[in-house]
Amino acid sequence: MGDLYGKTIVLGVCGGIAAYKAAALTSKLTQAGATVRVIMTKSAVQFVAPLTFQTLSRHHVFVDTFDEKDASVVSHINLADSADLVVIAPATANTIGKLALGLGDDMLSTTLLATMAPVWVAPAMNVHMYANPAVQQNMQTLRSRGVRFIEPGEGQLACGYVGKGRLAEPEEIFATIEQYFGGGSRLKGRHVLVTAGGTVERIDPVRYITNDSSGKMGYAIAEEAVRMGATHVTLVTGPTALSAPAGVELIPVKSALDMRDAVLSRLAANHLIIKAAAVADYRPAAVAEQKMKKKTESLTLELVKNPDILQEIGTLKTEQFVIGFAAETERLDEHALDKLKRKNCDLIVGNDVSQDGAGFSGDTNVVRIFDHNGLVEALPIQSKHLVARRLLELAAERMPRLAHTTGIPS
Ligand code: PMT
Repeated sequence: MGDLYGKTIVLGVCGGIAAYKAAALTSKLTQAGATVRVIMTKSAVQFVAPLTFQTLSRHHVFVDTFDEKDASVVSHINLADSADLVVIAPATANTIGKLALGLGDDMLSTTLLATMAPVWVAPAMNVHMYANPAVQQNMQTLRSRGVRFIEPGEGQLACGYVGKGRLAEPEEIFATIEQYFGGGSRLKGRHVLVTAGGTVERIDPVRYITNDSSGKMGYAIAEEAVRMGATHVTLVTGPTALSAPAGVELIPVKSALDMRDAVLSRLAANHLIIKAAAVADYRPAAVAEQKMKKKTESLTLELVKNPDILQEIGTLKTEQFVIGFAAETERLDEHALDKLKRKNCDLIVGNDVSQDGAGFSGDTNVVRIFDHNGLVEALPIQSKHLVARRLLELAAERMPRLAHTTGIPS
């Protein structure tokens, strides 16, 4: 699974306006498969409700040391022992000071004293507080004890000042954590092309044929490829309501023919091609130039077959590793394996789109991944991001080593 999968991260949230950013961090870590146990200081609760973190982490949030929910354990010791990493974000001058002095007067500080896990601190405070010699000295003391700091950014602060003291962005903190657990480099040097969304086949200027694809599966793959350090990620996408993931080159297309051009013209420049898009198999034989009028009792629309882009890739590919998707409503394994062979893919991801939590539109999927020898892995219901992550890991393990590929830019 992902590098964060199964890892326990204890997240300490202190009282500052940046506490809201810790909610985004919790969400990202949870999506990546980590177990996030949140401890809030009493002041943090003034800014964000514990329920926010409880909902995002799906775990009880600790505030009071003496609010022991489970009689079989001592919570702060249990949390301290379970942590693979402790991150304090945002960390106030007060909590940094307590940690430097070895004080333990609340749930967070006692857990920090008890943990053997690495401790990372992401400070957020007023520019003058940050520069204060006492705070700087406390940070120096902590550094000398092996505590790692995620530097605050410079800019407009909530107090009105401009300067250093703004909490690092959740994306940056997440990327640092991910890198620590060994991810963030598995696709280094790789150029990845992903297709997403459904194609739109015009009938006339106001009507078209399309399907239920939201683009979520393909966008998740593109986003995870960036997180795994891919050198370049191209996302060829049909129309969706999603925003472009950071770090991705977005190529918007409409029809299957547009998608074919966009993909085939970039085939030679990519190591890994993943076709998550739901491409229309047929398009209207002719597109009416004007809005079609309601003249007859019935109307027959003539459709012609679209080119099968994946099949063309399968014929043209040289060193590319190619992953197809198979959206099925019956005999999933049989149909998926047939597509894998016919379209000459290296892996195929079968999703039974009639199953709850699988396929079109939702945030989750249930997939069975096959190679030429049969079933590789059956993934139970999980977020499309986790599916994407696992799929990319399987690809990274199986792709030819970079030194052995030629012709594709590095
Ligand atoms: O976008 P979401 O709402 O998140 O939904 C995700 C999804 C259900 C669309 C996705 O998980 C999925 O299954 N994508 C493939 C859908 C599909 O078109 O399946 P298919 O079995 O019809 O096609 C098989 C493969 O051939 C696919 O990789 C498809 O991209 C490709 N194909 C199909 C037809 C065609 N003319 N050209 C193609 O390249």
